[in-house]
Amino acid sequence: MTRSSLINKTRRRHPLIHLLCVVALFSAFVFLLQSYFFSGSQRIGNVSREDVETLNSFQSSVQQCVANRGLGLTAHIVDHCKLIMKFPEGTNSTWYNAQFKIYEPLEYTYDMCEAVLLWEQYRNMTTVLTREYLDVRPDGWLEYAAKRIAQLGADKCYNRSLCEENLNMVLPGRAPFHPRQFRTCAVVGNSGDLLKTEFGEEIDSHDAVIRDNEAPVNDKYAKHVGLKRDFRLGVRGVARNMVAVLNGSSDEVLIIKSLTHRDFNAMIKQIPNPVYLFQGIVLRRGAKGTGMKSVELALSMCDIVDIYGFTVDPGYTEWTRYFSEPKKGHNPLQGRAYYQLLECLGVIRIHSPMRSQRKQDWSDIPSREMIRKAHSAAFRLKKNQGDDLGQFSSCKVWGKVDPSAPLPVSGSPDMSETRKKSNYNKWETLPIESLRKEARDHYQAMEGVSLYKMDGNKLDDLVCIRHSDSSSV
Ligand SMILES: *[C@@H]1O[C@H](CO)[C@@H](O)[C@H](O)[C@H]1NC(C)=O
Ligand SMILES: *[C@@H]1O[C@H](CO)[C@@H](O)[C@H](O)[C@H]1NC(C)=O
Ligand SMILES: *[C@@H]1O[C@H](CO)[C@@H](O)[C@H](O)[C@H]1NC(C)=O
Ligand SMILES: *[C@@H]1O[C@H](CO)[C@@H](O)[C@H](O)[C@H]1NC(C)=O
Repeated sequence: MTRSSLINKTRRRHPLIHLLCVVALFSAFVFLLQSYFFSGSQRIGNVSREDVETLNSFQSSVQQCVANRGLGLTAHIVDHCKLIMKFPEGTNSTWYNAQFKIYEPLEYTYDMCEAVLLWEQYRNMTTVLTREYLDVRPDGWLEYAAKRIAQLGADKCYNRSLCEENLNMVLPGRAPFHPRQFRTCAVVGNSGDLLKTEFGEEIDSHDAVIRDNEAPVNDKYAKHVGLKRDFRLGVRGVARNMVAVLNGSSDEVLIIKSLTHRDFNAMIKQIPNPVYLFQGIVLRRGAKGTGMKSVELALSMCDIVDIYGFTVDPGYTEWTRYFSEPKKGHNPLQGRAYYQLLECLGVIRIHSPMRSQRKQDWSDIPSREMIRKAHSAAFRLKKNQGDDLGQFSSCKVWGKVDPSAPLPVSGSPDMSETRKKSNYNKWETLPIESLRKEARDHYQAMEGVSLYKMDGNKLDDLVCIRHSDSSSV
């Protein structure tokens, strides 16, 4: 107000000054306009032309990759973020969605910027629920813990010891697995298409193999699905089968996708396997396919994620599991298009009957360097800011844990004889120094901070826990 009244006075006294001001402003405007159109790095608002160009050229690479690898799928660029994945004319889409009274469409729009932000972040995440997470997250014990226990009989953990009783058996103190811990991982789905190929040896050659629910692993299927067993993601519903499924594989880590509860704990007492809860669950109905959870888990531990048995070939209409009779069901075209997009974003590598002749040629997938640049550009555009805030930019809640504090290994006071033989030590007491170099380097770059998801499918808000000793506060 004082400022404008000053200008008013000035104007009244010196109309010439006013005119000069207008001229100066106008030339400044023309200058800005010129630099916007003629110089490479100028930003208007906070959007950098360079970032848009980076994303445009990334889109072109993705488009080329889809053309080469998509078995008829094509990518159509809408802008620097959006693209449409189209199945070829005549693709079998006889599936009828009774709920929405429509046939399945042959094209799907995706936001490649969102996808690259989400999946690149997974490479730095912890995807197992831990005690430190519940301690640090606001209302972690009271509210969040209650959400992870079925049939608790209360909406919150008003009685914390009751909730601890439920969770103890599946709750490690800190992250048992680390980003970059493995170089290669195979994620094996349950699709019947596995029987059309013989990927067994190839699957077993990975540093870690992740399997799904009650998928059997035995001599009968060995040449199709391999024999190596490291991780298994399961929904609570298959608990009653787990004793038989895990028989003979006591080191295989079981990770529960959804909730735990008493019955489940009773089952756990009968098996020696380490058991954890997945962290990153979407607590809503109608979540994306369960296969995505395996990809999330894999990406949080492995550099390279190879997927097998996901029914991703266009036109493949059988709905079977490799170990059971065909069921009535459907694997939507949308999912298949998304998996192809993920391959071309460098997230997964797809192996399927129609791709089995390709051998291992990944040269048309955008390079890590290009993906990193696209990620930075997408990040700046989204946050509408010029500076990359680094690896902690999404941290919303911070916590601190002293790594030298004694850490109990997982288990509960009422552990059964069988559980006492559990090999939790294999993961939980593993010193960082003994991990592969890439994992140690990452730990350094992250300054010993573990990142956890808060909720849902977005990774915008994270819980970040720093592990530093009390001396260096
Ligand atoms: C399309 O798939 C259905 C089964 O989902 C099958 O009955 C039908 O024959 C298929 N049509 C073509 C043209 O392949
Ligand atoms: C809380 O739960 C524990 C374990 O189930 C039980 O022993 C205790 O009585 C409960 N406390 C209250 C106040 O309900
Ligand atoms: C586990 O496997 C062994 C040997 O194959 C068999 O004798 C035993 O009955 C199995 N146990 C269960 C619970 O399936
Ligand atoms: C992931 O971690 C690396 C260090 O290993 C860091 O350079 C990068 O910025 C992080 N990326 C994200 C999306 O947080």
